[in-house]
Amino acid sequence: MTNDIVIELKELTKRYGYGDTESFALKDFNLTIKRGEFIMIMGPSGCGKTTLLNIIGLLDRATDGEYILNGEDVASISSRRQAKLRAKKIGIIFQNFNLIEDLTILDNVALPLVYTGHSQTSRLKNASTALKRFHLQEREYYFPNQLSGGQQQRVAIARAIVSDPEIILADEPTGNLDSRSSHIVMEELKAIHEEGNTIIMVTHNPSLTVYATRVINMLDGHIDTDVKTVADANLPQPISVKIKKRSENKLTVELPASEKPNKSKKSKSSKKGGKK
Ligand SMILES: Nc1ncnc2c1ncn2[C@@H]1O[C@H](COP(=O)(O)OP(=O)(O)OP(=O)(O)O)[C@@H](O)[C@H]1O
Ligand SMILES: [Mg+2]
Repeated sequence: MTNDIVIELKELTKRYGYGDTESFALKDFNLTIKRGEFIMIMGPSGCGKTTLLNIIGLLDRATDGEYILNGEDVASISSRRQAKLRAKKIGIIFQNFNLIEDLTILDNVALPLVYTGHSQTSRLKNASTALKRFHLQEREYYFPNQLSGGQQQRVAIARAIVSDPEIILADEPTGNLDSRSSHIVMEELKAIHEEGNTIIMVTHNPSLTVYATRVINMLDGHIDTDVKTVADANLPQPISVKIKKRSENKLTVELPASEKPNKSKKSKSSKKGGKK
């Protein structure tokens, strides 16, 4: 299996205002992202990092340029279609968690599945499984304000991965966390990356770049430096795990034939133990 291209941005521009007030958050921005990359984006405040992430996450549109997602030009498709693609392919994590305060943790995590056609029972089961992975199953019926910042961010990560997207976007996910909670969150993102997912994360913290396979520094809406720390050939390969049957305490998964003999790769079900 090869690590093929998941995202291509060509001559992307985001302009605000006209005439005297015209300014560019992104200017002729080009970027190709391969499956399995863990990209960290850094750069001074206002250089366009959030703008870039919002466009990749289909939350915002560029003024000009092409955005190719899995071979499809998605820059000018309808907002409805963008929302569907986002629900299926992209999980987003924000600095301030963005949980809905009057929904329980379980309902927050189940929310993205509303857009992917799951029944309510299946939504809640999947949300519960995702929360277990982050050791939050005891708190399913808590509300966000009853959790610490680190716990809320883990709920937000559970929500981002519940629909099994292949791309995870994170905008300063550790920006509001102490160093211990940051470490836990980064280890969770690392595990998600090792399963073959593509992660694009914005951070102001240079010490977190140890987790990245590629570090991009932005300046005034363009790429200033772009350094790969892991060769393409060594990026993690995707492990497609299909949830086949779930009984009360047992999750049965069907691994693709190519994954079966390789014990060194972890399946999603084997990752449920471990950290507190
Ligand atoms: N709605 C808007 N209207 C006008 N200008 C905007 C708007 N949103 C963002 N900008 C401008 O676009 C530029 C890039 O903003 P962006 O939020 O992407 O920066 P950033 O790199 O994420 O900064 P930070 O590190 O502070 O989060 C900034 O100059 C900002 O003022
Ligand atoms: Mg920002």
